[in-house]
Amino acid sequence: MNIQKNISLKQYNTFGISANAKRFVSINSLKELKKVITFEKNIFLLGGGSNMLLTADIEKLVLHLNLKGIIVNDTENDVVFVTAEAGENWHEFVVWCISQNYGGLENLSLIPGNVGTSPIQNIGAYGVEIKDTFHQLEALEISTGKIKIFKIEDCNFGYRNSVFKKELKDKYIIINVTFKLTKKNHKTNISYGAISSLLENKENPTIKDISDAVIDIRQSKLPDPEEVGNSGSFFKNPIINQNSFKTLQITHPEIPHYIVSENEVKIPAGWLIEQCGFKGKRFGDAGVHTKQALVLVNYNNATGQEIYTLAQKIQQKVKDTYNIYLDIEVNIF
Ligand code: EPU
Repeated sequence: MNIQKNISLKQYNTFGISANAKRFVSINSLKELKKVITFEKNIFLLGGGSNMLLTADIEKLVLHLNLKGIIVNDTENDVVFVTAEAGENWHEFVVWCISQNYGGLENLSLIPGNVGTSPIQNIGAYGVEIKDTFHQLEALEISTGKIKIFKIEDCNFGYRNSVFKKELKDKYIIINVTFKLTKKNHKTNISYGAISSLLENKENPTIKDISDAVIDIRQSKLPDPEEVGNSGSFFKNPIINQNSFKTLQITHPEIPHYIVSENEVKIPAGWLIEQCGFKGKRFGDAGVHTKQALVLVNYNNATGQEIYTLAQKIQQKVKDTYNIYLDIEVNIF
């Protein structure tokens, strides 16, 4: 185990922000991980770096979790349990599952990041969330070094949320995640408008067809972090009550929305931000993506602070115009 000093994190975060880690260590086995937490509890966990904005250098010890491996636990019926180690790249894992004809994760194709961080924010896209196929995860408790199994009922999954973002924040390190997938009779979900239009000519779309459609849609509106730094959706879509929604609808009858419950309506933050005139705007190297206003981008050398200042400007304008608070989805450090 080699603890390096003053390492640039630019290549380790998809926003491509140049912040430094005072101390940095790559962890390649559970043994190394257990060892490191015996002498250091003040840890900054780095997975795929796809859901973070670094606004300063990191004083804590940065752990780059590189645990790799996939284990299949087959059953006699239609179901298969697949365990992936935390350091597996999410999209490569999804592609592998599809190549094995294991269904359930196809709508989550091309989401940046690693398997280990996927449950923290209950990643979701195109009508599916991780909680729909989640079976269990194993996590190391930092204070004791003990491994604990978390079942779905322990995770408290919500919209882009889980117990690991709240009560248990910074207390556990997720080391692997097990998904319950289908081997046949896949329960596909093509309810999302853009997917169903892309697949309308296919009679019985396969999980590969669905994955291909999702990849097409994502590539058409979301920037590739390899080309332009970004962290996907920067804000959560706000949920407002029916009364506020009805009032908004009077002045904006065209407002897109999804009914969440009897009294709750979700409004696309991208729409609100676009209405406020920010779509495609650029402030130095910090900007709002031209095709999806929910995504903030680093055109080259923006600092985390510049991106954060832009985010606050957007929050203020949306608040002043619509009286809606936009909650930030990305973790700010
Ligand atoms: N819209 C606009 N202007 C924009 C962007 C969107 O008017 O600039 C409108 C669209 O016309 C559409 C609606 O907003 O009517 C929804 O847009 P979209 O389908 O692109 O989805 P979203 O609600 O903006 C969410 C997730 C995405 C996920 C998509 C598809 C959140 C915070 N974001 O975006 O997740 O891929 O749905 O399921 O829930 C991510 O988390 O990083 C992410 C990309």
